[in-house]
Amino acid sequence: MAFVGPSGSGKSTALGILTHLYEPQQGAVLFDDQPIARASDESLRAIMTAVPQTPVLFQGTIRENIVIARPSASQSEVEAAARAAAVHDVITALPEGYDTPVGEGGGALSGGQRQRVAIARALLRDAPILVLDEATAALDPASEALVNQSIAALAGRRTVFSVTHRLASVAEFDRIVVFDRGRVVESGRHDALLAAGGLYARLWQKVSSVAVSETSADATITAEGLRAISFFSECRDDTLAHLAERFVSERLPEGRDVFHQGDPGEKFYVIARGRVDVLREAEGGAKRIETLHDGDFFGEIALIKDQPRNATIRTVTDCWFLALHRTSFDQLMAREPGLRERIMRAVAKRSP
Ligand SMILES: Nc1ncnc2c1ncn2[C@@H]1O[C@H](COP(=O)(O)OP(=O)(O)OP(=O)(O)O)[C@@H](O)[C@H]1O
Ligand SMILES: [Mg+2]
Repeated sequence: MAFVGPSGSGKSTALGILTHLYEPQQGAVLFDDQPIARASDESLRAIMTAVPQTPVLFQGTIRENIVIARPSASQSEVEAAARAAAVHDVITALPEGYDTPVGEGGGALSGGQRQRVAIARALLRDAPILVLDEATAALDPASEALVNQSIAALAGRRTVFSVTHRLASVAEFDRIVVFDRGRVVESGRHDALLAAGGLYARLWQKVSSVAVSETSADATITAEGLRAISFFSECRDDTLAHLAERFVSERLPEGRDVFHQGDPGEKFYVIARGRVDVLREAEGGAKRIETLHDGDFFGEIALIKDQPRNATIRTVTDCWFLALHRTSFDQLMAREPGLRERIMRAVAKRSP
């Protein structure tokens, strides 16, 4: 079962209730007709294992961090789990291999590596229920494809709950539950949800408008994909075809600023892959006002105005962007009466 929906719609909260991290205000979670609220922590741990949105590693070696899931596991079982989590080759390439210390909080590893060690740990445990919260969000396309295969291989044998913004990875799931503002608004199989033309169909259109090649790691956007962006929706086909060609693929590791509040703005960005925080400088430090994902865009004001950035954009995972420079855009804007106003309206709608 997949939980999908916009940022802040309640997916992680639902997983938290499911795994008895929180008590629901109403209703109950049943496992084989037994309320989990009455189960001991030990018996809950025996039936489910979770990979949280920000996995926690403890100080120790990589091997210790994986094997804790099943202390009796042999080295070859640990390696099989690491292979299934697309992290075995990364580990063996390190000078100390499986004996590499992960450092305080896993700090010696990248976010994507930490996430894969946590996935290996969960796969090694092999509990009846596997709960994944954006488990592949920080992974490159090739590693993600491998991990998705490993998860798909559990079908029929294990129950998987997966929260994800990568809708393509759950298209084959038995049931997709769509969240919006703390409520379930749709549920069903991929094809039925697409045909229904609701929120799921809109999210699908957004995420499938962009792609990152598994081999070249270049991001691309199609003319059709651009049409999914509100202010481009009324543009001529040939304008969008030209525009799509002018976007440049850019890649940034986790924890970097794409731009900083107050910087001069020259480019418009579409996120091809990854997650960024939108931060507003405030007294006592920067405050997060939004989180954006695959298919989302930002910085559109730069297309029409030379104006300082009104927020900081920071990458939470490795990110691939499609960037369009104002000079490339200027040449095309003359062909599209009304586009300038449509962008202005989009900007006004976004800023609170
Ligand atoms: N049904 C609900 N009732 C009350 N509060 C809720 C409900 N659903 C979500 N919230 C609140 O909304 C906030 C965001 O929810 P949550 O973190 O679950 O979103 P999410 O869908 O996981 O977002 P993201 O994709 O950014 O991880 C939380 O503070 C949570 O407590
Ligand atoms: Mg969440």
